[in-house]
Amino acid sequence: MSFYIRLDMSSEVNKIELSQYTEVDYLCHVIELEIEIQSSFAKITNVSKYEKNKNTQTKVLVLNGVNLKLENILVNNKVLDSTEYVLETEKLILKDLPDSFTLETHCIVNPYENFSGEGLYKSGDILCTQCEAEGFRKITFHQDRPDVMSVFKTKIIANSEDYPLLLSNGNLIESGVLDDGRHYALWSDPFKKPSYLFAMVAGNLFKIEDSFKTLDNREVKLEIFVDPGNEDKCAHAMESLKNSMKWDEETYGLVYDLDIYMIVAVDSFNMGAMENKGLNIFNSHYVLAKTETATDSDFQGIEAVIGHEYFHNWTGNRVTCRDWFQLTLKEGLTVYRDQEFSSDMGSRAVKRIEDIKGLKGAQFAEDAGPLSHPIQPKSYVEINNFYTSTIYEKGAEIIRMYHTILGDAHFKKGLKLYFERHDGQAVTCQDFLKAMSDASGVNLDHFGVWYDQNGTPVISILTSYDEATQNYEIEITQNVVTNNTKYDCLYIPFHMELINSDGNSLDLGDNAQIILKDKVTKINCSKISQKPVPVFNTNFSAPVNIDYNYSFDELLTITAYAKDEYSRYNSLSLAFEWLIKDLTKSYKNGEALSIQEDFFRSLATILSDSSMDKNFMSYLIEPPKINYLLNKADNFDFEVTNHILNHLKYEIAKRFEKELVSIVDSYNTKEPYLLNTHSIGQRALVNISMWYLAHLDDKDINEKIYTIFTQANNMTIEFGALRALMVRNTKHAQKACKEFYIKWKKDTLVIQKWFRLNAVADFIDINYIKNLETLPEYDEKVPNLVRALVGAYSTNVVAVNNSSGVGYKYLCDKILEIDQFNPQIAARLAKSFSYINKIDNERKTLLTQSLKELLKASELSNDTMEIISTNLS
Ligand code: ARG
Ligand code: ZN
Repeated sequence: MSFYIRLDMSSEVNKIELSQYTEVDYLCHVIELEIEIQSSFAKITNVSKYEKNKNTQTKVLVLNGVNLKLENILVNNKVLDSTEYVLETEKLILKDLPDSFTLETHCIVNPYENFSGEGLYKSGDILCTQCEAEGFRKITFHQDRPDVMSVFKTKIIANSEDYPLLLSNGNLIESGVLDDGRHYALWSDPFKKPSYLFAMVAGNLFKIEDSFKTLDNREVKLEIFVDPGNEDKCAHAMESLKNSMKWDEETYGLVYDLDIYMIVAVDSFNMGAMENKGLNIFNSHYVLAKTETATDSDFQGIEAVIGHEYFHNWTGNRVTCRDWFQLTLKEGLTVYRDQEFSSDMGSRAVKRIEDIKGLKGAQFAEDAGPLSHPIQPKSYVEINNFYTSTIYEKGAEIIRMYHTILGDAHFKKGLKLYFERHDGQAVTCQDFLKAMSDASGVNLDHFGVWYDQNGTPVISILTSYDEATQNYEIEITQNVVTNNTKYDCLYIPFHMELINSDGNSLDLGDNAQIILKDKVTKINCSKISQKPVPVFNTNFSAPVNIDYNYSFDELLTITAYAKDEYSRYNSLSLAFEWLIKDLTKSYKNGEALSIQEDFFRSLATILSDSSMDKNFMSYLIEPPKINYLLNKADNFDFEVTNHILNHLKYEIAKRFEKELVSIVDSYNTKEPYLLNTHSIGQRALVNISMWYLAHLDDKDINEKIYTIFTQANNMTIEFGALRALMVRNTKHAQKACKEFYIKWKKDTLVIQKWFRLNAVADFIDINYIKNLETLPEYDEKVPNLVRALVGAYSTNVVAVNNSSGVGYKYLCDKILEIDQFNPQIAARLAKSFSYINKIDNERKTLLTQSLKELLKASELSNDTMEIISTNLS
């Protein structure tokens, strides 16, 4: 065991290590829970059957328990006295047990004062649970780890008036009326599962019903539960659920296994959603949507998360993780599955760009900072800190690479073998790799290095062309130092394209799709009649950074001609970055800021391409965000970069004013809203056009945008227009902002958007944020609202990094305040400072001071302490 030393050295914190894994001494096959809800507490009775695990020599039962008041404990119906067990902080230890026994515990918990978003807690008027990763121990004493799998029976008792609906995992097998206005429901889940998949819900909820006929002809009941009044916002979630079920049957032959699938939407939830067996619990943001209140990307988010949780039923629930170091086993794989599902439902090319954009924005940044970790981490203090974009999104890219390397047929064969071998088991990432390798006959040992290697690999490339021999040589070097003894580099599927001066793609034969296995790979392409423009890592075949010295012209050539949309998008992003660097240099030299005509010509070609998917077009013309530039820089200059970015946006808007206005004018606010690729693209393009135009600060144009804002019949455009107006602090912006607030303040999901937009505005200061906090619609106990205001503010890097340090101080104060009741959310906020090594020394000193101050707080949670210590290290 090793220790994590707090920076203030006042105490030591336990660090969990992958290498220290051992099996439990006692397996728990059956759990019978009784949850009796009273008006100020809940009584939990747990009757569990234990059996000695034959694989271990020792005989100690260590049960986890947090914030539990233990009333009574019995072994084989005999009450234990306090000498017969050891009750430590967060642990109950029993020794000298028979090889098979029944343990009964009686505990009291208080869901009404639990604001941690873990265990049993109250969200609005609903009581609900969140057990992943280690929340079950806040409900009852149990070996709360995923390799202990049990069959659950759950009886819930509550008064029928406040809690007419009582739900848990599996099937309802009995219900009835009790005395004193109470009633009960008994649920039974026939599938063995780890405790993190347990769930229960009690409340007064409206039920939307539908059904699905499975491939094997069973009728599955589908039920979505929401707060009364929200029943008109569930159609899209239900449709997405049915699409997910059908997609998994058609794509992988995976069929749902229970007779009922329930989804409950709650307003207070720490993350997106949770895949509890048969009873998903969702952040209401990922369920509730109608045209008037949800944007296109909200609708797409719902489809993705509904799919994600549904797909977990096989990748996560039927086959689960041995321990939390294996988190990417279920998350990376399930994200890959939901990405593929969304691609099949909408535009594959645009989805791929969105996913890569997300990965580069969040995961590359994480991997380039102090919080960098491999997708299979080696140690942690608090597992909740490891629900990261590395585990999820980089994890998904690793799964995608299996698919790229093995091909679709072998990949599917591998998954099939994985389920055949491991159904009902808790396994490791290496078990997955082995199934893939055995099914395909491809040795994947070297590929396995991706699991324990952190950091984004940099692939440096040199090319040379010899006109006489018509040979084109490419030398590719992997700049990775692996911590693996056998391999000094990674196994990387690397795709490329060569384009000639007419924009035609040259035939590369086998060289188009190679595998990099060595530190240096040399490729020789013959019969190349002119110097080509190379496109590397096409369609983002591997999650790597490319270091190649492109000329500005070459980037524009790729934008115009590359075969895959990602490469076109990526090269124009690089051209944007190239320009920003160039303008910055001119600015610092006191020279005039001029933008290359070629760049404008490229944009003009794009904007006039009537056959182009408009969603793709709107991604192409979008300039990089300052946060993205910050994470790629060192000694970042906030003021200058912000100035240059604004200049660039203004110049683009001015040059294309006519085109952009015509896009906006062609939008008919009376047109009925349709959720299809074409209409989504049209709205995306109108929105980015309004946004560019708003940079001109022109009264007539602002009036035009304002009119669209007032006439819009859907949230996508209404919010798009508001976002555009908020680019500058104009009269129109203030008016629209106020009107939007008054119109929507009763709808918390919409008002969250409004908070977010305010918090990221260019023109705000700290008092503006503090004012927003005092609005009656804000509630610090509701995670969505904290994320919408404080979380969004933390991404407003220009405001936060105000040279006075007030931004740092404000955020650190908030982190400490929120940490007292919700450590997970506080730790998330603390992660926002991971750019600490990218800023100038004065700011770094100020930020370090604020963080050190925060670390001194004696009452700081392990969650937040781990993040801040790591950021400071
Ligand atoms: N398993 C859930 C999902 O990805 C997320 C759970 C997050 N839990 C946490 N403690 N952060 O669908
Ligand atoms: Zn998941």
